[in-house]
This record gives sequence, C-alpha cells and structure tokens, in this order.
Amino acid sequence: MIGKLTLIEVQDNIGWVKINREKKLNALNRELIDELHERMVNFQNNPDVKVIVITGGGDKAFVAGADISEFSNFGFKEAAAMACHGNRVLFDFIEKLEKPVIAAINGYALGGGLELAMSCHLRIATQKAKMGLPEVTLGIIPGYGGTQRLPALIGKGNAMEMILTGDMIDSEKALKMGLVNQVVPEEKLLETTIIMAERIMKNAPNSIKCAIKSINSADGTPKGFQEENFQFSNCFGTSDFQEGVTAFFEKRKPKF
Ligand code: CAA
Repeated sequence: MIGKLTLIEVQDNIGWVKINREKKLNALNRELIDELHERMVNFQNNPDVKVIVITGGGDKAFVAGADISEFSNFGFKEAAAMACHGNRVLFDFIEKLEKPVIAAINGYALGGGLELAMSCHLRIATQKAKMGLPEVTLGIIPGYGGTQRLPALIGKGNAMEMILTGDMIDSEKALKMGLVNQVVPEEKLLETTIIMAERIMKNAPNSIKCAIKSINSADGTPKGFQEENFQFSNCFGTSDFQEGVTAFFEKRKPKF
C-alpha cells in the first residue's frame, strides 16, 4: 500500500513500514511523523500483525534526523511543542507499543533517526550504517528522547561522549556498545530481520506484551520490580499460559 511518505505491507504476520522520503534522506518532518503514527496505530489494531519493522527507503539512510528546514526559525515555544508532539505520537508511542518493533537500520541513523531507532524495541544494522546524535553541531541537543534512551542503552559515559562530540560511530562500534542487537551485510538485512521476528513470534503474544511493559519500567527502583510482579502475575490463567504449560508436559511445541 502506498502512502504519501511511507510504504507499508503485511507479510507472514510482519508489518513492514518503509520510510519513503529518500531525496531528503528520510528526514522526519511533521507530516512524516504523523503518517508513521497512523501506520503504528493501524498495525497495533491489526490482529494479523505480530511484529512491526521500520526501515528507510533508498540505500543511503534509515533516517538522517528531524527535518532541519522545519525548525530553523523556531523559538522556545515552538521547539517545546514540536518535541512534545513527536514524543507523544511517535517515539514514546512506539516504545510503549504492545507488539515488538524492530528498526532495520539500512544507512545513516542520525539525530531524530537514531532516536527513532532507539525507541524501537530491537535494532539490526547493516555494516555500512552510521549512527550519531549530531544535534550539538546545530546548536541544539537531542529532543526526541536521545539524552534519556542512549544512556540506558550504552551507559552514561558512552552517551556523554556520543552526544557531546556529536561524532558518528560505525555499526561495529554500535554493536560493541550495545546500541544495536546485530550487524549484518546489507544484503542480509531483510532475511535477518525476518529471522529475528520469527524467533519472537513463536512465543506467547501475551508474554511478549507483558515483557515489553515490564522491561520498559526498568529503572532500578522498586517501581520497576512492582511492575514486573504485576505483569508476571497477569500472565497466569491466560490461554497463552495454559497452552505453554500444557505443551511442555505433552512434550510438544506450543501453538499460540
Ligand atoms: N533535515 C533536512 N534535510 C536533510 C536532513 C535533515 N536532517 N538530512 C539530509 N537532508 C537533505 C539535504 O539537505 C539534502 O537535500 P538537498 O538535496 O535538497 O540539498 C539531501 O537530504 C541529501 O543530503 P546531503 O546532500 O547532505 O547528503 P550527503 O551524503 O552529502 O550527507 C549526511 C549525508 C551526512 C547524513 C548529511 O545529510 C547530514 O549531515 N544531514 C543532517 C544530519 C543531522 O544533523 N541530523 C540531526 C537533525 S536535528 C534533530 O534530529 C533534532 C532532534 O533530535 C529532535
């Protein structure tokens, strides 16, 4: 199906979204953010979709950041409104989705592009992908959650270095730091993403949903542990639980 700025497809329970703004390296303008939101809502409500994948159109970029031309004359108020809107409808929205979202990073993931990848639950990058938060080179800082999600993924020291230098890193370094889950040759990105999705989809959908909620609440405080306790307990007595445990005792694979 062709949208204005995105292409979508559902195949074998995977909902694919390809950002289709290649000439601007898939930079995120307001229209694209809103269209991506619609796509996410649509996939969330589609029972055929079990895993969602976001990737960039063209062979150069996943997303090269927020669209600089859109905010070049912004002041405090407009910047606050832009960040609040983007975070609400896209970045926080994706992080909280009950279905796993994988970022298939096919090239530059910079600024808002890396922030989009970081709001996804998993990241697979090609060997040629480059990642960075270059906002300080523009006289701003990351505004779509970058200063919060990057330290959570790679630690405070590494996040300080990436954000304060604004330097790009290659995918091997990103893998060593824990910023991406896997690095693959360009021609294997699709195949590897499908394999990752299939490994997840064989498991209980209710468990996947509860695990995402629980992991998202991990902040090292008792609140996180309480959420885990709630989500753990929530799994018991469900049809997924019945099937999982029954299949174990019957020595067969569960059918969720
Ligand atoms: N916003 C708007 N347009 C962008 C863009 C962006 N973030 N990134 C690339 N483009 C546009 C370029 O302006 C260019 O358009 P024209 O052909 O009309 O001139 C087109 O995409 C192709 O880009 P380049 O010619 O620059 O391609 P390149 O191969 O020479 O360089 C690049 C690639 C290194 C990624 C370079 O495009 C670049 O540095 N882009 C900006 C990266 C950046 O600073 N991102 C952070 C944005 S701020 C942000 O995201 C804020 C936030 O946290 C909320």
